[in-house]
Amino acid sequence: MTKIYLAIIFCILSTNIFSQNLTIEKKVNELLKKMTLEEKIGQLNQYNDDNTATGPPTIDNNKADQIKKGQVGSLLNCLGVERTRSWQELAMQSRLKIPLLFGQDVIHGYKTTFPIPLAESCSWDLEAMEQSARIAAIEASASGIHWTFAPMVDIARDPRWGRVMEGAGEDTYLGALIAKVRVKGFQGNKLGETNSIMACAKHFAAYGAAMGGRDYNSVDMSDRMLYETYLPPFKAAVDAGVATLMNSFNDINGIPATGNKKLQREILKGKWNFKGFVVSDWGSIGEMINHGTVKNEYEAALSAITAGSDMDMESRCYKNNLAQLVKEKKVDIQLVDDAVKRILTKKFELGLFDDPFKYCSKDREIKELNNPEHAKIARNISSKSIVLLKNENNTLPLSKNTKSIAFIGPLVKPLLQNKGFWDVELPGVDSNFIVSQWEGLQNKVGNSCKILYAKGCEIEGTDKSGFDEAIKIANESEIIILSIGERRDLSGEAKSRSNIVIPGVQVELFVALKKLGKPIVVLINAGRPLIFNEIADNADAILYTWWLGSEAGNAIADVLFGDYNPSAKLTITFPRSVGQIPIYYNHLNTGRPANSDDNHIYNSSYLDLSIYPKYEFGFGKSYTTFDYSQLKLSKHKIKKQEELEVSMWIKNTGNYDGEEIVQLYIRDKVASVSRPVLELKDFQKVFLKKGESKLLKFKIDKEKLSFFNSDLKWVTEPGEFEIMMGASSKDIRLKDNFELMD
Ligand code: NOJ
Repeated sequence: MTKIYLAIIFCILSTNIFSQNLTIEKKVNELLKKMTLEEKIGQLNQYNDDNTATGPPTIDNNKADQIKKGQVGSLLNCLGVERTRSWQELAMQSRLKIPLLFGQDVIHGYKTTFPIPLAESCSWDLEAMEQSARIAAIEASASGIHWTFAPMVDIARDPRWGRVMEGAGEDTYLGALIAKVRVKGFQGNKLGETNSIMACAKHFAAYGAAMGGRDYNSVDMSDRMLYETYLPPFKAAVDAGVATLMNSFNDINGIPATGNKKLQREILKGKWNFKGFVVSDWGSIGEMINHGTVKNEYEAALSAITAGSDMDMESRCYKNNLAQLVKEKKVDIQLVDDAVKRILTKKFELGLFDDPFKYCSKDREIKELNNPEHAKIARNISSKSIVLLKNENNTLPLSKNTKSIAFIGPLVKPLLQNKGFWDVELPGVDSNFIVSQWEGLQNKVGNSCKILYAKGCEIEGTDKSGFDEAIKIANESEIIILSIGERRDLSGEAKSRSNIVIPGVQVELFVALKKLGKPIVVLINAGRPLIFNEIADNADAILYTWWLGSEAGNAIADVLFGDYNPSAKLTITFPRSVGQIPIYYNHLNTGRPANSDDNHIYNSSYLDLSIYPKYEFGFGKSYTTFDYSQLKLSKHKIKKQEELEVSMWIKNTGNYDGEEIVQLYIRDKVASVSRPVLELKDFQKVFLKKGESKLLKFKIDKEKLSFFNSDLKWVTEPGEFEIMMGASSKDIRLKDNFELMD
């Protein structure tokens, strides 16, 4: 009976959705019939507002007029209900009153800034990541924004590339799961609800594999690598219903992504049946001239529209050339119509035709940008993103009876630094709501502990004149906390670095303080993995705090004093030297694998450098300890259609309650193409009280054992597999084998 009811409800719901889609389709077609070619091209045209520019801005004093003539479909970098409303009013003066779309880089929060995405990914907490995207959407939508250019789902294996900060790290499996929850978070239940904004999976594709870690650089990779490592997070975003994609600046094997028909038409809109639209990256249509694949803007527009780039961000190539291309029959009008329909469909789905000012309520803006709940949630995910890299002699957590602390370093007092690269500068909002690290510590200990401060040095530069003061206050205190790192804008777009060490004299400051013989806890603030071997080897405790956002200070204090027991684990490998890059955990074995640093007899190693990272993928400590035991496979031989159940016990054997991220890796021992030495295929984040044990169960199915063969076919090959349960990709605690049969 229940089944029948469910079936009826399902039918009613799907008929509703179906008829809603049909109505939108009809409305789009009717509108399209009324549009002139100029108005159609207008919909494909996106301009920057004057607020901020994330690329070379084009000066255009004529925007208002163009909007009134229906020649602009979207604006980016336009913030707040007043400003968006005033542009939308102009669009309402156009002949067909087609509303504008307002897009913005809401990458790690809007007013409430969350940890940078790479930091958040280290929480491995999918629910929390969905929630942070949700809150970003609630705030942005309340402030006039319809569309965020996030999530960035580029797999990144090179920490010299400044944009590693913006993604979910190096692993495809985890990256795809995170892509999905971030899309769900931004888009909410469905587009059309006033607190949902469109997400944009970017940068399609392989932008993260820029050669030498230099932003915008070329990418040269095999199709197998593209399919297996770089595309799955995009596919996951599409499957999760992402409304838009952005293509990328780079060329792939010589073809710019923006003019890449295979990527956009064959794979994305063909095989994956993507129904949303693709926006170019900033000026990337015109940049194809620099790539040398087109002669001029006319050819650039032809290449981009043919390849499936629907909206032109800021290059004006469509605006200035598409009409001519259509008239000269170089571009079939159907290509233009298809792009226009995709964009109009989203405007209908958002409900902008019913109410173009739907996202422009001042009351809602005031309410949501001042919602105290958002800060609480940000504090929680910030604590979950801090990685404990070292904790000698249980230096941490600090006792609440600590009587004196020397809090030293150039990152103790700044506010804005904590926000990381992609913060949104809201007009009229000052930065006092950000909790500095200094304030966070004060909030935590009140008057019960004397906290002394010295800056010690700047983030960059050679000036050591502040060292003496730092040493003086350190001598007067029980413990030293040193907060150092990069500037927040040393990672991000166009922020590639060749030597990813901690800048300036900050390491020298550490060395000087270490000599005092007091316990020293180092907080490292950065947007990428840095190299800091001297500190790694000599500090008593290290917390990698990344950029945590507006609640940074409180979250750091929570972890320092054990109100939150750190649980984060690295989602990107930390090299010990730039010479090791690219370095990532799921590499192939090679014909001559090296298995130690001391043996260089014709194997794949360096004579002058270890082959091992400083901190491996999946690594991160806790204040407590966990014991893994009793690994059990439901079978040791399975057929392709069968599922394997993997179970194990985990016990909290230490002195604190805490969470562990238990990682399941496989190795396909023999296959038609060489397989990685380790592949993450599942994980569980589990909370255990002190002394508590739990039975964990995982499922392995055919999908998890499949891969792209040399003909780019997704295949499942029979043979032997190894299962490894680890606390990191190196710290494998339990192992077993099973056979997959035909
Ligand atoms: C260029 C960046 O590559 C892209 O990620 C961003 O969304 C656009 N600029 C718009 O700001």
